[in-house]
Amino acid sequence: MALKIMILGANGFIGSALTNAILRTRNWEVYGIDLADNKLGDLPQGTGRFHFVEGDITINKEWVEYHVKKCDVVVPLVAIANPAQYVTHPLRVFELDFEANLEIVRHCVKYGKRLIFPSTSEIYGMSPDPILDEETSPLVYGPINKQRWIYAASKQMLDRVIYAYGVRDNLDYTLFRPFNFIGPNLDDVEEPKEGSSRVFTQFLSNVLYKRPIKLVDGGSQKRSFTFIDDAIEALLTILENKDSRATRRIFNIGNPANCVSIRDLAQRTIRIAQEFPVLRENAKATEIIDVTAGDYYGKYYQDIQVRVPAIEAAKRDLGWAPTTDLDTAIRRTIDYYVKQENFGARAAAMSRT
Ligand code: UGA
Repeated sequence: MALKIMILGANGFIGSALTNAILRTRNWEVYGIDLADNKLGDLPQGTGRFHFVEGDITINKEWVEYHVKKCDVVVPLVAIANPAQYVTHPLRVFELDFEANLEIVRHCVKYGKRLIFPSTSEIYGMSPDPILDEETSPLVYGPINKQRWIYAASKQMLDRVIYAYGVRDNLDYTLFRPFNFIGPNLDDVEEPKEGSSRVFTQFLSNVLYKRPIKLVDGGSQKRSFTFIDDAIEALLTILENKDSRATRRIFNIGNPANCVSIRDLAQRTIRIAQEFPVLRENAKATEIIDVTAGDYYGKYYQDIQVRVPAIEAAKRDLGWAPTTDLDTAIRRTIDYYVKQENFGARAAAMSRT
């Protein structure tokens, strides 16, 4: 019998890539829910294995519970995962990322279903460890008035709840921690509103609109960027769970070889964008300027200086390692966007202004 997988947030960045990969490469059934389906546009047609409903998990609760009961594995990917929103809408982050997801976790416990849950690289906060280990690294957050940490704290609490259900009730779970996944559909690259996207999409958008790239506090802070296709390979392996090697485990999913400063990311994005004729003029004209964190995010923000994943557990137990270097990840993402219908027209219009 083909595996039945429920993906909450099937139209999101990770959800749409995972749904696509499953339908292309596996014979599994996918039951998806999301507010919209715009990122699912190029799904392989006619598989008959994708069952989608447009809806809100906080409203369509009966649909959600019924499908948890019906499926073998549940992957809840609905969450606000954008730092600009942690500081502007902290309670919405708590309500969606924590409260709404806690209900899903409890359904999995009640019906004995396997749960594959997105923890986050942010869980480590300002951990002093140079390389972040799933089992041993301390999780370090700032004071309560730095509301940025409400996301990490919500996720940490869920990790702890899921772990405790594993110990007490044998909940079959895997926690995965994404480290700055990038790729097509991360955020809306054509969204002109500054600060509404995560860094890589923001930089691409700045190039498209010929706006200066803003480096927060000098841009020396570092992230390890992971290409979405590598990440999806890891998730497929977790879903397969050969020999139960992913059961009741936590895995960092990240690419330590792609650890660069945000300034470096900005420079690479500008350089690689120039390889694409449609972006060349805009990219050449894109300036890099400095802004303070206070000016960019407001007083509730606090940054993380460096974030490098240990991936030995994933290598050993999933047989997984990332293979896409940062320049290739940037190039492939830009290539995806420039092939979108209205992209060329938009870039051309911007380069005339
Ligand atoms: C991200 C988000 O919290 C989540 O997507 C996720 O859980 C996690 O980390 C992850 O993807 O691993 P962060 O990396 O801080 O957090 O978010 P970005 O918005 O991608 O910002 C990265 C860095 O770029 C920050 O230091 C930020 O200050 C800087 N930045 C951002 C700029 O310098 N300029 C900008 O225009 C935007």
